[in-house]
Amino acid sequence: MAKRIQFARTGGPEVLEYVDVTPAEPGPGEVRVRNHAVGLNFIDIYFRTGLYPAPSLPSGLGTEGAGEIDAVGEGVTMFAPGDRVAYAQGPLGAYAEQHVLPAEKVVALPDAIDYETAAAAMLKGLTVQYLLRQTYRVKEGETILFHAAAGGVGSIACQWAKALGVKLIGTVGSPEKAELAKRNGAWATIDYTRENVVERVRELTGGEMVPVVYDSVGKDTWETSLDCLQKRGLMVSFGNASGPVEGVNIGILNQKGALFVTRPSLNGYADTRERFEAMAAELFEVIASGQVTIDVANRYPLRDAAKAQEALAGRQTTGSTVLLP
Ligand SMILES: NC(=O)c1ccc[n+]([C@@H]2O[C@H](COP(=O)([O-])OP(=O)(O)OC[C@H]3O[C@@H](n4cnc5c(N)ncnc54)[C@H](OP(=O)(O)O)[C@@H]3O)[C@@H](O)[C@H]2O)c1
Repeated sequence: MAKRIQFARTGGPEVLEYVDVTPAEPGPGEVRVRNHAVGLNFIDIYFRTGLYPAPSLPSGLGTEGAGEIDAVGEGVTMFAPGDRVAYAQGPLGAYAEQHVLPAEKVVALPDAIDYETAAAAMLKGLTVQYLLRQTYRVKEGETILFHAAAGGVGSIACQWAKALGVKLIGTVGSPEKAELAKRNGAWATIDYTRENVVERVRELTGGEMVPVVYDSVGKDTWETSLDCLQKRGLMVSFGNASGPVEGVNIGILNQKGALFVTRPSLNGYADTRERFEAMAAELFEVIASGQVTIDVANRYPLRDAAKAQEALAGRQTTGSTVLLP
């Protein structure tokens, strides 16, 4: 038997159950990973609450982890038992001691990167890779706006932007979070719970505003974000921490300056083995070179996944959180 977290109905953290299951055998093309660390992400909360529907219930939860290959299914030649690996996509169920997923969603983990770092970095770091290097390829000297800059994704974005010579203005919810974002390389911070974000962006950019806004807060920041953009700027709406953006009349993009908007996801970028490997290689490189340090700020035993999710949803965390089986 092995432990896993599952939920039989959607709702608050209380729906998460810590149960015994018989680990599944990997099918053709699949591997079973013995997790050493599991990544906690906001998307897990969207599945738990039902904002994103799980394919069936009861369901496992989580898509990110790192550990050793424990068994391989028919036809798998890329990996063998004992290999150190990490993953960030695939079926729900990473909140578990063992997780079965397609081998093509798994990458070999360089020796220099430990399991906790990998579990804290894969989903969030690959997200920053596509945001800064693909969705809008930031250029040296540019000023950009990035919301929730002290969070898991935000902490990586601050460091990666700095390494690329980009001036990142990060929004944060407290003075302590502002300090942290600055230490991580944010060029400036704005406390969006106390300050007028549009006015501060105007001041900081000498009236120019920014060519791109990375917005994972969603509902609460949507319109503010559009107002921070230059003419023909790009709004990258990539999350819903405050709730989803709904009921948009696209005429608003015209009113606010012929703007562009995109709603990307990791699955939309790491959609082939080749692209996934290239993105992971770039992420491992910025970690190994020391340009990006992964802040594993919060650790919880796997059984306490509900507590960990409460802290994340309650804006109490900074950096990344891992669950330890
Ligand atoms: N599309 C993708 O591919 C993709 C991939 C990964 C993550 N994401 C998104 O990126 C965001 C960050 O993910 P993460 O796991 O690293 O989480 P996180 O940033 O560590 O935590 C979310 C942060 O959002 C801020 N926030 C603002 N309004 C909030 C509200 N009403 N409720 C809760 N938090 C609020 C809080 O920071 P302050 O207190 O500083 O405001 C909070 O700490 C999430 O929205 C997630 O869905 C998207």
